[in-house]
Amino acid sequence: MSPFVLTRTLPPDATAAALRADVAQGLTRSPKELPPKWFYDARGSELFDEITLLPEYYPTRAEREILLARSGEIAAASGARTLVELGSGSSDKTRHLLRALSSLTHYVPVDVSESALSGAAGRLLAEHRALTVHAVIADFQEALVLPRVPGPRLLAFLGGTVGNLQPAERARFFARLRAELAPGDAFLLGTDLVKDEGTLVAAYDDAAGVTAAFNKNVLAVVNRELGADFDPEAFDHVALWDARREWIEMRLRARTALVVKVPALDLAAHFAAGEEMRTEISAKFRREGIRAELAGAGLALTHWWTDPRGRFALSLSVPV
Ligand code: AVJ
Repeated sequence: MSPFVLTRTLPPDATAAALRADVAQGLTRSPKELPPKWFYDARGSELFDEITLLPEYYPTRAEREILLARSGEIAAASGARTLVELGSGSSDKTRHLLRALSSLTHYVPVDVSESALSGAAGRLLAEHRALTVHAVIADFQEALVLPRVPGPRLLAFLGGTVGNLQPAERARFFARLRAELAPGDAFLLGTDLVKDEGTLVAAYDDAAGVTAAFNKNVLAVVNRELGADFDPEAFDHVALWDARREWIEMRLRARTALVVKVPALDLAAHFAAGEEMRTEISAKFRREGIRAELAGAGLALTHWWTDPRGRFALSLSVPV
């Protein structure tokens, strides 16, 4: 097998169809809502990379601290020959893990973005000449169709992205993932942790306004892809902490009453003055909650690592 293979499990037009369906649904329901996955066009991915460098946005740095300190332990606990990474993006956070996993022969990055996958694969192959990279274009929320690769496998879902799923979606995701695991495989999960409200809100409402631009970028995506006429200036960025559900919510609040036309959907969406549209939830976790959710899907927590300041956690679990 050549050292780089790319498999597409999504038809090329699946993304367009999914965006149309999400926008049609999201703009006609009450309250209005757009799913966070549409933030990440080229500009949105650039803005997210900028977010990870902000003084207020600690999760990326906290997770990197854990990976740096613990990749040896993670490697020893898993003994993986294949690393499967869901939502791999630029694969930057995976570097330490790849270096530590000395028995690794295969790397399977899974992402919706083909450009992110081929860019990352090129860089990785240059660094790890013996590695076979089998990239898969897929949406981690849909069925997992993984290539045949040598086990044991370590499935990794890093960055805290699992927090973008609603609790019911998370349960489905964990169950599907569990069904994919064989004895000897393991699951490495990155989760941001519950902490004081000030720190959390600042991480999603930074002083420089990068997160506000990231939030409004979803409007530019809908404008470009569906010919809509959202005016990003007509909306304010909102980030709030829902203490009961323990998640951050990002919203866009209409400054005045306005109408947005979406020609591709033959739709006109009316916003009242002050009306808020949800664009993301980012759930924060506790050890006991994660243990219970994983157990509910047939996964037993074996390791729990946090950064020294207890802001973020990596957990390792195995099928029971
Ligand atoms: C990439 C999903 C982990 O939820 O913290 C950053 C996205 N949203 N700032 C997160 C995000 C606002 C981020 N994840």
